[in-house]
Amino acid sequence: MKVCIVGASGKLGRYMVRHALKRGFEVVGVCRPQSVVKLAEFHDQISIVPGMTDDRDVIRSAVDGCDGVLVVLVPFGMHGYASGTAQAVLDYARPEARLVFSCGWHITRDGNDRYPRRFIATVKVMRFIGRALRLADVDDQIEATRRVFESDTRWTVVRGSDLLEGESEGLPVWSRHVGDPLIARNRTRRVDFAEFMVAALDNDELIQEAPAISGR
Ligand SMILES: NC(=O)c1ccc[n+]([C@@H]2O[C@H](COP(=O)([O-])OP(=O)(O)OC[C@H]3O[C@@H](n4cnc5c(N)ncnc54)[C@H](OP(=O)(O)O)[C@@H]3O)[C@@H](O)[C@H]2O)c1
Repeated sequence: MKVCIVGASGKLGRYMVRHALKRGFEVVGVCRPQSVVKLAEFHDQISIVPGMTDDRDVIRSAVDGCDGVLVVLVPFGMHGYASGTAQAVLDYARPEARLVFSCGWHITRDGNDRYPRRFIATVKVMRFIGRALRLADVDDQIEATRRVFESDTRWTVVRGSDLLEGESEGLPVWSRHVGDPLIARNRTRRVDFAEFMVAALDNDELIQEAPAISGR
């Protein structure tokens, strides 16, 4: 399987590169030009397409011939970075490709998630601070996933709980809705989030699903 990892140089991205290589996949990584050095450990194992992930030409070239695309959706800046990234992937990936996008629990597909009060308060604060400092736009990540949910591609949107570094605890459990006691722990090791993303590529049960995940 040939897989493109969009946002390969970040923490989640590098874990995904490792999991994909372990599975024997051919990997193409997209990352900002200044971050190519962060992929040095993989230099002879993957191809790298340097560029902003919302650059449509960069994405068109990177996803060419790929059976799967793993996308780290990040709402940096105030210029539609996450939605531009998602749109480019939706437009240029092969129609039959598996597309797996990352985001957080705050994204809701059908409005039926039941969030802890503290979680809602934290998202409100993050939205306010991100906008005030013009650093990040949470609403753009919401727009990005809205476009994915509306698409008829073979997508999965993986909604991560709070993330922790550390040794693997095994593949996270998932639910269609936050509020399900199964995922109440709200803690996932980043390495396991990455494995869930990569494993979703060949899990047809997750096509057009937005699993909210947590470590057990
Ligand atoms: N952090 C959490 O607690 C948490 C919780 C739930 C879900 N998530 C989701 O998990 C995914 C990964 O998040 P993460 O927090 O673990 O971070 P991460 O994996 O380190 O990813 C951050 C990404 O943002 C890029 N980036 C950094 N600064 C940027 C800038 N100024 N302009 C454009 N891109 C920039 C990084 O690229 P470079 O390598 O080029 O810097 C990297 O690809 C995201 O989809 C997030 O929504 C995170």
